[in-house]
Amino acid sequence: MNIIVVKDYNEMSYQAAQLIAEQITKKRNSVLGLATGSTPEGMYKELINLNQEDKVDFSEVITFNLDEYYGLSPENPQSYCFFMWNKFFKHVNIKKENIHLLNGITENVNKECKQYEDLIKKSDRIDLQVLGIGDNGHIGFNEPDISLNTQTHLVNLTTKTIKANSRFFNNVQEIPKQAITMGIGTIMRARKIILLANGKRKARVIERTINSPITTKVPASVLQLHNDVTIIADQEAASKFIS
Ligand code: PGA
Repeated sequence: MNIIVVKDYNEMSYQAAQLIAEQITKKRNSVLGLATGSTPEGMYKELINLNQEDKVDFSEVITFNLDEYYGLSPENPQSYCFFMWNKFFKHVNIKKENIHLLNGITENVNKECKQYEDLIKKSDRIDLQVLGIGDNGHIGFNEPDISLNTQTHLVNLTTKTIKANSRFFNNVQEIPKQAITMGIGTIMRARKIILLANGKRKARVIERTINSPITTKVPASVLQLHNDVTIIADQEAASKFIS
């Protein structure tokens, strides 16, 4: 694993955007795997700036998002579809037909998962996958103790994740208890992976991701088996790893 420790959130966002811009400069029709959550918001802002300054061109780029809440419609402001359109897609010159998002209100979840997985395979492979990390080590919504060889599938969220995500919802009834996520198998097939983490809250899980024996208890520890992973962590998130 390549580990880059940066000063703060802004620096993390800048470095991540630079890596994505480099990828797109090398290959105009790069396939990107994209993440949501509070962590990558700054990275999207940096990418929008780079696009507006004509330093990166998304016109040939293809994207696949990592996950979506099951039961939330794309118009729901808490859905990841809504997040992606508002915080990124509508501000850059990406083609609508090149954007792939999971449908949280699909009537046939197995079919939705299989079609998504087939589309990823059809696009060859994800060139660069961006990941955040949950306090419990989840990547996408692959929660602890999940099987490692999974493809896109429906998962039950753990109480810890539901609690962590409750900050975005008005009341507990509104928080989805399930999600659709790319599997660990899907993520591990990406050519290159960058994982972002900031803040003290992530310090313990970053230390375990890098140093613990590979274990399903910390799903992100599986990334130790991938041959091209870069972790960009700010000083707080890296504090247990570097001390
Ligand atoms: P966060 O979520 O970016 O809001 O901390 C990360 C995750 O749960 O994967």
